[in-house]
Amino acid sequence: MKIALLFILSYLLGSIPSGVIIGKLFYQKDIRQYGSGNIGTTNTFRVLGKIPGTIVLILDILKGTLGTLLPIFGGYHAHYLLLISGILAVIGHCYSIYLRFSGGKAVATSAGVLLGYNPKFFLIAILIFLIIVLLSSMVSVASIVGSVFVVLTSLLFKDYLMTGFLALLAALLIYRHRANIIRIKNGNESIVPFGLVYLL
Ligand code: G3P
Repeated sequence: MKIALLFILSYLLGSIPSGVIIGKLFYQKDIRQYGSGNIGTTNTFRVLGKIPGTIVLILDILKGTLGTLLPIFGGYHAHYLLLISGILAVIGHCYSIYLRFSGGKAVATSAGVLLGYNPKFFLIAILIFLIIVLLSSMVSVASIVGSVFVVLTSLLFKDYLMTGFLALLAALLIYRHRANIIRIKNGNESIVPFGLVYLL
């Protein structure tokens, strides 16, 4: 299959709004109408609870992972093609074709890209994220600060292509957290909605 077609597939895959689908299908709720209004894991936990939240987390991670690995199924193994495909899945998540180009905040799907591309570094990134959640009690802070730490830590791997793409993902992630940044500044950002114990 042509690489352009695989890129489009990755975007379409990333576009699948798992949080909205699960909310509507099993809870007759559109999570965009509740909590922060986001379609991602945190808001699904907040609005629908642990089980749907965990399912959305897994599905959103998988979108990034599958999106990153799609070129391999077409016989393309070049690292930059995997990373472009992964980023397209994240763009799909943030600007979903099924939601009139609105969407999520790039956290779980970006983590999925890392899982597909470098599973060892994925585990390190999760650790960085969890430490910041513990210290700040805010998922948004962990996402924003964590994404910067992940870019910096990736330098240790000397895979500068990966670092470059992670920097792009971090920029997108921070841009998508604009409303959270205002709430953090104003001191009214919501704290972890589902208990620190569960996270660990
Ligand atoms: O999952 C994205 C997280 O960083 C913030 O989510 O719903 O609190 O805006 P939310």
